[in-house]
Amino acid sequence: MVLAIAVWSLAHCSLLPLYAPGMALTTLIDDDAISTRVGELADEISRDYADAEELVLIGVLKGSFIFLADLSRRLTIPHRIEFISVSSYGERESEDPGAVRLILDVRHDIGGKHVLIVEDIVDTGHTLAYLMRLLSARLPESLKACTLLHKPDRNEVDVTIDYLGFDIPDVWVVGYGLDYAEQYRTLPRICALER
Ligand code: IMP
Ligand code: MG
Repeated sequence: MVLAIAVWSLAHCSLLPLYAPGMALTTLIDDDAISTRVGELADEISRDYADAEELVLIGVLKGSFIFLADLSRRLTIPHRIEFISVSSYGERESEDPGAVRLILDVRHDIGGKHVLIVEDIVDTGHTLAYLMRLLSARLPESLKACTLLHKPDRNEVDVTIDYLGFDIPDVWVVGYGLDYAEQYRTLPRICALER
C-alpha cells in the first residue's frame, strides 16, 4: 500500500521523470485549462454545425483519442465518430521525412457528409495536409480540421486549422493522449518532456 502510494505520487508529480530516466516533465497546460478550452471548442463547433444533419468526427489515432472522447461528449449536435490512422514521419531512415502513410481507414463513406478531422497536434503539418488531400477527394459536403495543439515554429506546409486549442512552443509534449515511445498518454495534463 505504501509502495503504491509512493509510485502514484511520483507519477503525478509533474517535475519527476516516470518512465524515461534522465528526462523531466514540466506542466505546460493543466487539467483545468484543457477542460475549459475543450468546452469552448465544443461550444464553437456546436454553434457552427447547428444546422447540419450530422457531423462526422474523424479522430486521428492514436494521439487524439482522449481529446476526441472529451470533445465529443461536450458537443450538443448530432455526430458520429470514425477513426483513421497514419504513420508517423521518420519511421524509416530511407523515407522522406514528410512522407505519411495510411494505416487504418475510416469505415464509412464520407461523401456528402460534414466532416471534422480531430488531431492531437499539428507539428510540421504534413499529416494534416495529407489527411485533407485524402479526405477531400471523397467529396464530403464540408471538411474542416480541429487540433488541440499546434507548434507554429515547426510548420513546413501551409494547413488551415479551423478549431485550435493552444499554440505551444517547439518542445516535445506528452499527456492527454500524446506519447513519447508509447508512454505518458494517460497523464491528465500536457507536459513538456525535457532532457
Ligand atoms: P506533423 O505531421 O509533423 O504535423 O505531425 C503530426 C503528428 O506527429 C501528430 O499527430 C503526433 O502524432 C506527432 N507529434 C508531433 N509532435 C508531437 C509531440 O510533441 N508529442 C507527441 N506527438 C507529437
Ligand atoms: Mg496525431
